[in-house]
Amino acid sequence: MKSNSLICSTLKTNRQGNAKIMFWGDVHQGHENSNWKMASDAAQYCLDNNIYMIVTGDMLEVGTKTSIGDSVYTQDSPTGSQYFMVRDLLRPLAKKGLILSIHMGNHEMRIQNNVGIDVCAQLADDLSVPYGGHGGFAYLKVGNQSYDIYGYHGKSGAKTSDGKRKALRDTMNFIDADVYWMGHVHKCDFFTESYQRIDRRNRKDIDFEKYFALTGHSLFYRDSYAEAGGMNPHKAGFMLIELDGKERWVSGAPWPRDITKYRKFN
Ligand SMILES: [Fe+2]
Repeated sequence: MKSNSLICSTLKTNRQGNAKIMFWGDVHQGHENSNWKMASDAAQYCLDNNIYMIVTGDMLEVGTKTSIGDSVYTQDSPTGSQYFMVRDLLRPLAKKGLILSIHMGNHEMRIQNNVGIDVCAQLADDLSVPYGGHGGFAYLKVGNQSYDIYGYHGKSGAKTSDGKRKALRDTMNFIDADVYWMGHVHKCDFFTESYQRIDRRNRKDIDFEKYFALTGHSLFYRDSYAEAGGMNPHKAGFMLIELDGKERWVSGAPWPRDITKYRKFN
């Protein structure tokens, strides 16, 4: 199954005339530290509130005999079960037309590398939603606005918050978009960069912004490989952005606001 290089969609707006998108990924279903309750509550929240979802990769842990780390021994379930858990969780969202695209992470890539099965293409096919491959563009219309979105699972090994932002910001060097997203670094973050350019029609210089979302994760920190590797204990959560339908404006914040009820030394 070939991935879509460009996903075009007109989003239904909420009462405020805007549309929300949750980036859902780096769940690592099956990993002993995976906070599946939080990940499934997030999906239910999207379903209940008509929030769109971009599925950003590393949905499954996929611990194998040859993969890095010990998860082949410690994961809660085999890869096949992880697949069905994620597929069944996402099915109601897909049926409601809320999944904009599914993307592949490096953990699912293990299956592709070992046996040549693109499990994320299979997931997209099972759910009848667009397959975005490793990443790509989406052209989204919201009210009287439209947004170019570009994102990918990512590969950065950055440990610091600044390094993680830089990895995403560097995408601007070769991609022109309004909103950029990236997974993999297991941090929820939203930031903007401001620019000036010429408004040719009105013959004046104007300010405009580009928006950046690091998509988050749902892993407990204590006893994790992040802790073992001396990485920052970034709070679990998924980035939720809102695209304004009346003026060019994007805001973003992690979901959930409070992770107390999901906390297990998180
Ligand atoms: Fe991940």
